[in-house]
Amino acid sequence: MNRTNVKIVLLGLLMFSITLVTNSQLPSGHSFAQQQVVEYSCPMHPEVKSKTGGSCPKCGMTLKQASKPDAQTAKEDSQWGETHFPNVELTTQNGKKVRFYDDLIKGKVVAIELIYTTCKYNCPLETARMVQLQKLLGDRMGKDVFFYSITIEPEHDTPEVLKAYADKYHVGPGWLFLTGKPADIKLISRRLGLDSLPNGNDPDGHTPSLLIGNEATGIWMKNSALDNTKFMALKIEQLMGYGPQAQVVNIASTNKTESVKLNIDKGQYLFATRCAACHTIGNGDKIGPDLLGVTSVRDRAWLQRIITEPDTLIAEKDPIATALFQKYKEIRMPRLGLPEADVNTIIEYMKAQTAGFKKPETTGTQN
Ligand code: HEC
Repeated sequence: MNRTNVKIVLLGLLMFSITLVTNSQLPSGHSFAQQQVVEYSCPMHPEVKSKTGGSCPKCGMTLKQASKPDAQTAKEDSQWGETHFPNVELTTQNGKKVRFYDDLIKGKVVAIELIYTTCKYNCPLETARMVQLQKLLGDRMGKDVFFYSITIEPEHDTPEVLKAYADKYHVGPGWLFLTGKPADIKLISRRLGLDSLPNGNDPDGHTPSLLIGNEATGIWMKNSALDNTKFMALKIEQLMGYGPQAQVVNIASTNKTESVKLNIDKGQYLFATRCAACHTIGNGDKIGPDLLGVTSVRDRAWLQRIITEPDTLIAEKDPIATALFQKYKEIRMPRLGLPEADVNTIIEYMKAQTAGFKKPETTGTQN
């Protein structure tokens, strides 16, 4: 009898701790307000918990008293409001001064990324994917939803530099590139939980990440900037409150077709997520050149290098890479950190796609 009781208690404890673990490690896409399980915790760093309150050792925020995860009180409890978002002054790419909370966040649906314009790694891909997202959101951009790209290298990225960067990517209305005082930007990135992200001096630590949220409802989610853009557009629409029922169905079906389609071919998946924001195969130039036939006109070793270390090719003054770099308005082909196997898979994919466009005898002679 006793043993059974002990077992039940142990089982209960186990289930309780599983609940705790899942609560504190909720995946992206949750409301930060709904994960308080102990008396005090930090809204930004849910792993920081305390019985006595005080401030978070990681970000200095006042720890919040836990409350029931009740949708109506989520906003007040979440601290994702004026007390959380620093209301510091930033400058847009057009030289306009704005307040981070009052002018940019308050009452809005927003997507925020951290960038630096000299980035050779993931930021160009991240920005290019936001350009796709901007297209999908269409005329809701600047009305219902706003994008903010905040530089983490404010010393270099002046409003003029940011303006030139935004122009290269054909950035449309509702998307601001922002610079400001280094300390203010550090504070913003810390408060947004994006501070483990790009650091100009240590670019390898860069995990592209996009924070999307609705200040009015207090719901925020961190996404990989490499997420499927259609899926992300749907998530943003959902944040704007467009027919939640219909959206849920949409997301499910989009996701399913995408994953079915993407699983078929790794090359197609890699190309879609890492290259297609800037390149097509046979549909004309985008931010970078159309890659139709590129596997026939360039040799394979060179292709491997431009995909793996484009910046080194340019530094070595490789004539083709330099000419391309100048032709494409000096937008960098980014160094994407793909493993060799993936690079080969993508090259094979480009070859196969090209073969589908041209007669076999005119393609694929290089190896
Ligand atoms: C942020 C945009 C961007 C992304 C993402 C990107 N590229 Fe590029 N790519 C460019 C630009 C711009 C150029 C031309 C200028 C240069 O080479 O720097 C280029 C050039 C190239 C070239 C040389 C074309 C030629 O005519 O020889 C190849 C090949 C290439 N990219 C392949 C890829 C592949 C494969 C991927 C995905 C793994 C990829 N790129 C991702 C922007 C991008």
